[in-house]
Order: sequence, then structure tokens, then C-alpha cells
Amino acid sequence: MIGQVREWIHGARHIAVLTGAGMSAESGVPTFRDAQTGLWAQFDPQQLATEEAFRADPSRVWDWYAFRRGMIAKVEPNAGHRALAAFAQRHPGRMTLITQNVDGLHQRAGSAGVLALHGNIAEDKWLDRPKACCRFETALPGSPPRCARCGSMLRPDVVWFGEMLPVAVLAAAQEAAQTCDLMLVVGTSGVVYPAAGLARTAAGKVVVVNPEPTGLDDAADAVLRGKAAQLLPQLLED
Ligand code: APR
Repeated sequence: MIGQVREWIHGARHIAVLTGAGMSAESGVPTFRDAQTGLWAQFDPQQLATEEAFRADPSRVWDWYAFRRGMIAKVEPNAGHRALAAFAQRHPGRMTLITQNVDGLHQRAGSAGVLALHGNIAEDKWLDRPKACCRFETALPGSPPRCARCGSMLRPDVVWFGEMLPVAVLAAAQEAAQTCDLMLVVGTSGVVYPAAGLARTAAGKVVVVNPEPTGLDDAADAVLRGKAAQLLPQLLED
């Protein structure tokens, strides 16, 4: 089956790639839903990854993201991230990389133009519409940092449960899905929409790469049961 998928890749003019937390598992970043090791096994997402949770207890949510930022700062992109970046560099314009991950590892591996559907954990933004006084460079450090003048809070620039995805990024991702000849769906359980919906609206063949069954296996033309850092280098080498 790997040979068949390699042929599909070789023949595809445009490849869309949708990645999830499993893409970074071999870098040591916990996924969300893996039963024992997933982040949500230890924390309740509704208690942490929502605007309501942040407004209710800003320092608790901010500190949880600081913990995750610290963990991500210590890890490196893996062979799967590097294989995707290298392929796109060898074949300009043939690959669009869409990720649900906020860890920035695709970008650190050298992928350009990454469509980060759920934002980037390393970035902050103002919780409320910023006033003229709200400037990053003068924000008072804290958990969370606040505007020195009006006290407005900064928050992680990630999409929380119940929030809209960045409109332009989602539109570009939908465009890529609807014009691709092939979509690789790597390391996602395929249960969070609209991201997972991209695999269901893909114009081209869909290939799932995951060691476990996913919510998108039924939409796949091929399912490769394996790990991203092992399979992607095999699939993407010329
Ligand atoms: N290689 C490939 N896939 C892997 C690997 C690996 N080495 N290890 C684990 N996986 C798979 C798991 O089998 C699972 O299907 O990665 C998937 C991780 O699924 P989730 O933890 O649900 O992560 P994801 O699908 O990215 O979640 C989507 O939900 O919590 C929100 O915003 C968060 O972006 C996240 C979204």
C-alpha cells in the first residue's frame, strides 16, 4: 500500500496535507485524546481551553499555557515534519500544509505558508479589542500580562473551544482541499470540525496516516497504520 500511495504522490499536481497532534507525538509533545498520555486525560479542556474559563480564572489558564509553551520549547521537529518541509522545498507549489497543531513545529522544520487553523501557542493577542494604550511592548509581565494603562489582558493566540477559526486561514484550507489531487491526513483523530471536514470535502484521494483507527478512516481511499515520523519520509522521498 505504501507503493500505491507513493505513486499517487508522484502523480499528484497538488497535495493537501492535514496534520494533527499525532504529527508531533514523536517529538515528545502529548496529543489531546490518546487515552493515557493525552493532555485531555489529565486536564478538562472545558476548564482550560475556552474564553469563559480564561475570564473566570485568567492566571490558571495562562499558567497552563505557559506550562505547555515550556514543554514545546524543549522539543524539536521530527523526521515527519522535516520530510514534509523538504518535499515542499523540492516541489514548490505542489503542497499545501494545513495543521491543527499550535506547536509551531512544522514552521520550525522549514515548512512555509503553513495554514495554522487553530493558531500558534507561541503568540499572544489581546483578550478584548485593544485600545490605543494597549501595546505588547509596554504590557506589564504577569499571569496573564496586562496593559500598563487600562489593565486589558493578553491571552494565547490559539482557537479555543467554541471560537471561530481564523476566516482567511480556513478559507485557504478549504480551497486547498477542494482543489487537491491528493490529501494526506496525518496524526489526527478526525473528531474536531471544521478541520476534520476538510478530509470529507477533499477533491482528491484521501490517505490517512495513523497508528490507530480514526474518525476519518471511512472517508479514506487508503489507510496507512503507522507513525508519522516513520511513514512520511518513506512516502515523500523522491
Ligand atoms: N504518528 C501519527 N499519528 C499518531 C502518532 C504518531 N506517532 N501518535 C498518535 N497519533 C494519532 C493518534 O492515534 C490520534 O488519532 O494522533 C491522533 C491525535 O488525536 P488528538 O489527540 O485528537 O489530536 P487532534 O486530532 O490533533 O485534535 C484536534 O482538538 O483538542 C483540540 O484544538 C485541539 O487541534 C486539536 C484538535
